[in-house]
Amino acid sequence: MEILKVAMPKGRIFKQASQLFRDANIPIPDDFDDSRKLIIPIPEANMEFIMAKPVDVPTYVEYGVADVGIVGKDVLMEENRDVYELIDLGIARCRMSVIGLPTWKEVMNPKVATKYPNLASQYFRERGHQVEVIKLNGSIELAPLIGLSDRIVDMVETGRTLRENGLIELEEMFSITSRLIANRVSYRMKNHAIQLLCDQLQSVIEIKV
Ligand code: PRP
Repeated sequence: MEILKVAMPKGRIFKQASQLFRDANIPIPDDFDDSRKLIIPIPEANMEFIMAKPVDVPTYVEYGVADVGIVGKDVLMEENRDVYELIDLGIARCRMSVIGLPTWKEVMNPKVATKYPNLASQYFRERGHQVEVIKLNGSIELAPLIGLSDRIVDMVETGRTLRENGLIELEEMFSITSRLIANRVSYRMKNHAIQLLCDQLQSVIEIKV
């Protein structure tokens, strides 16, 4: 039986994703969540897990070093990789929003700081708004507080980061959940194994929704 290589995102999605696999009766070991190993074979399930930085998951899958992967819709939209999006897993639910200070003003060509420059540029372009996008790699909420940008585009989950920094949501752009994606060739060559994984995951997603 061939091995299915699964790219898993380390970080905030990881625990929910591994729980979903457990719920789907895929034998994930107990120490999986705390391991520092980057490649974890699970021969009982004919799977091998690759622990990836979330933003790199679509890259591994596009190049076929992972057959499938779990990734947030935010990363998927930003990276725009040539992969199949198979299932909405319904986990790590949050939203992408335009955020600013309560004192924000309409200005010409506002500066928008974000971790998602492609997604933000496209969003404003489609609405006919001219903005200057500034790419940052984290702590995006700092930007309006210290005068780097007029607004930010970022994820809101509980809203705590906004509250604690005195920022407000100006516009909700998209709702975000994690997705199962597949490499195009793997989807044909390992169709049986991928379909089985989809069915297993789908059965527990339906119960949860
Ligand atoms: C994300 C996001 C927000 C925060 C939202 O940051 O960029 O800052 O979480 O969550 P909340 O609404 O529950 O407060 P992350 O923790 O991924 O770190 P980052 O600053 O490196 O982007």
